[in-house]
Amino acid sequence: MTTSGAADEVTLTTRAHSFNAAAAQYAANRPSYPPALFDTIEELTGRPLAGSRVVDVGAGTGIATARLHARGADVIAVEPGDGMAAEFRRTLPDVPVVRGSGNALPLTGHCADLITYAQAWHWTDPDRAVPEAMRVLRPGGALALWWNTSADDVPWIAEASARADRHFGLDLSAEKRDIHARVADPTGRLDLVRRVVRWSRHVPIDTHLANLGSHSVFLTQGAERSAAYLAQERRHVLEVFPDGIVEETYDVILLLATTSPRPTA
Ligand SMILES: C[S@@+](CC[C@H](N)C(=O)[O-])C[C@H]1O[C@@H](n2cnc3c(N)ncnc32)[C@H](O)[C@@H]1O
Repeated sequence: MTTSGAADEVTLTTRAHSFNAAAAQYAANRPSYPPALFDTIEELTGRPLAGSRVVDVGAGTGIATARLHARGADVIAVEPGDGMAAEFRRTLPDVPVVRGSGNALPLTGHCADLITYAQAWHWTDPDRAVPEAMRVLRPGGALALWWNTSADDVPWIAEASARADRHFGLDLSAEKRDIHARVADPTGRLDLVRRVVRWSRHVPIDTHLANLGSHSVFLTQGAERSAAYLAQERRHVLEVFPDGIVEETYDVILLLATTSPRPTA
């Protein structure tokens, strides 16, 4: 990710690696992705996932990989982190995962029909990750980037986002809202199509809070500060969902680019 200075770089690197210590919490509580997302990818690429050679980069514990695999894709996962890769192997022992970064993919050229980044593109340096994706995709292949973003037009979600901003003194709402626009493609080489897929899930309050706590911003804020925030959040959210079952609503922001069908030099 391009940053303005060395201090920012340290913070981003710390955040990018923070998931490793919380991989089991991540796997158990983070939301997955809805079938409509994968239908949209098939529609935009004009090709079924079944039988496609897919590279899922920044695969983490395998939440997106599992969905791609279930759709019949022939998936290879790429993941830089120890803890996340170990959790991946526990969850998906039959799917290959190789250690590496999107900035330098450990794969041969033109080997993939589709490269996916679920919630992970913003941890790369796109000036390096775009040419790497172009190298690894076959001519006419596609790069799909997506993020589950919380639906801030839902009043209780907007209020919760504002509380998090106040508690941590950060502008997390803007960070989440703009992430895909800020970091997508500074090279200008990709012709990205944008789609939004709304979905929701109903989860117990403990899952909701553990999901919040698995985000890099909380993982790097210190246990005490995060615990205080989560205790306060439990009270607020239970006022909206007194039975303890929380409806989380997400907009998946999908950006997809198809490469030229002619081989590039
Ligand atoms: C928010 S998690 C997303 C995991 C998974 N794709 C999912 O949908 O749950 C971000 C992942 O990106 C990985 N990551 C960090 N830096 C990366 C990089 N330069 N290239 C690829 N992945 C990276 C992290 O280790 C982490 O597993």
